[in-house]
Amino acid sequence: PEQTAGKRKPFMYTQGQAVLNRSFFPGFDTPSVKCTYSATVQVPEGFTAVMSATSWEKQEDNTFVFKMSQPIPSYLIALAVGDIVSAEVGPRSRVWAEPCLIEAAKEEYDGVIEEFLTVGEKLFGPYVWGRYDILFMPPSFPFGGMENPCLTFVTPCLLAGDRSLVDVIIHEISHSWFGNLVTNATWGEFWLNEGFTMYAQRRISTEVYGSAYTCLEAATGRALLRQHMDNTGEDHPLNKLRVVIEPGFSLFLGVNPDDTYNETPYEKGYCFVSYLAHLVGDQSKFDAFLQAYVNRFKFQSITADDALGFFLEYFPELKEKGVDSIPGFEFDRWLNTPGWPPYLPDLSPGEQLMKPADELAELWAADGLNMEAIEAVDITAWRTYQLVYFLDQVLQKSPLPEGNVERLSKMYPKISKAQNAELRLRWCQIILKNNLEAEYSKVKDFLHSQGKQKYTLPLYRAMWGGSESTRALAMETFSATAPQLHVNVQNYVKKILGLE
Ligand code: BES
Ligand code: ZN
Repeated sequence: PEQTAGKRKPFMYTQGQAVLNRSFFPGFDTPSVKCTYSATVQVPEGFTAVMSATSWEKQEDNTFVFKMSQPIPSYLIALAVGDIVSAEVGPRSRVWAEPCLIEAAKEEYDGVIEEFLTVGEKLFGPYVWGRYDILFMPPSFPFGGMENPCLTFVTPCLLAGDRSLVDVIIHEISHSWFGNLVTNATWGEFWLNEGFTMYAQRRISTEVYGSAYTCLEAATGRALLRQHMDNTGEDHPLNKLRVVIEPGFSLFLGVNPDDTYNETPYEKGYCFVSYLAHLVGDQSKFDAFLQAYVNRFKFQSITADDALGFFLEYFPELKEKGVDSIPGFEFDRWLNTPGWPPYLPDLSPGEQLMKPADELAELWAADGLNMEAIEAVDITAWRTYQLVYFLDQVLQKSPLPEGNVERLSKMYPKISKAQNAELRLRWCQIILKNNLEAEYSKVKDFLHSQGKQKYTLPLYRAMWGGSESTRALAMETFSATAPQLHVNVQNYVKKILGLE
């Protein structure tokens, strides 16, 4: 109960991806096999069960009967039970949340989901899953979102009050075609799920919000890839799209696919799909290809060779030109060579939003602050992702000259007192990189408030790589919050802190 928003009733959920569902039910827990499923779930009085299923029905004795009538891989079977209620937000969508969050949840997404679904269908073909509902999870949920079919699970951090984090929803909706219909056959080809989904997400976003905003969001993604490759070294074997995952023969051998999780399949995968689009040269032709790809491989599990083979078959003139072996851009190199993507899509349509942020970050990184120039920039109208982009630039230039971050903090309460999780993450990273001891409590508060892996691990890495006092902060925060973290996240933090 203490991990929920209401604090009074317990909550249970499953997280299947990548290979956790084998501890939920017996089965072939590989993404290369698909089947339908049904389930009968009895829960105590006062609780509701929900699943990733196409239909459900409540019978007497608090018994829920679920049926998924489309074949899916095992990792997409999901169950949650809690004191939850629902509210309609569209013709085929409702939000589920604890009673104390339901108003905020409805408010956040009322009337916006349907547009994403409609644009997705226009671009990629029919939405085959019937409903698209969203379940708000307890704060310990380790992901931003999980694309369980018919019922996406999301972190409550998305309740920003201003729809600013809706890109996560567009991402999970995009999995309805890429991942849930066309599935990676092995976790070593995870980029097929996430790279195509990032591309689809940004196609939908471009249609709905325009290319300036979408390129800005993509630039923050590119910054994450840069940070990741700087941390690991470009040549790290996980910085290839196709990853070798040793199978092993028992619990103690082989590699857990979850341990290979990083930004590469997302953002390098996005670059590769963008490169394919660039080879085609015409957006509507490439959109048509994506639709044909989904149609060709729907309800199947495929490898990169299948996908790329189909691409060359669909565009015989490109095949003839030998686009798969252009020196420096060989498909084989994309898949099997670690490192920075050989091709980056043009994000210049976002420049109008990025340039002011770049310039402002430049001003704040200077030795003697030019307050006149700084005060001339009005950030009150900046959108969340413009602030995120600005903070990423500040972080990159950190540590700033003595005293600058304190002044920045005072000047922009909109940033230093932000409630938005993406802003809080960046601000905490800046606090740590600049040893701003006066604000360490913000790092602690943020880590107490949620347990998303992509927020938690970078902060522990930064604390552990910092001073004696940030290391103490890390230890203290972890011992207080460990019980409320997902077991995977707990273990990754232990590794960072040298506890294992
Ligand atoms: N399918 C992933 C989450 C996942 C990946 C769970 C691997 C377990 C193992 C989901 O679609 C995802 O990528 N979520 C992102 C959203 C973001 C890229 C917009 C997240 O949680 O941050
Ligand atoms: Zn995803």
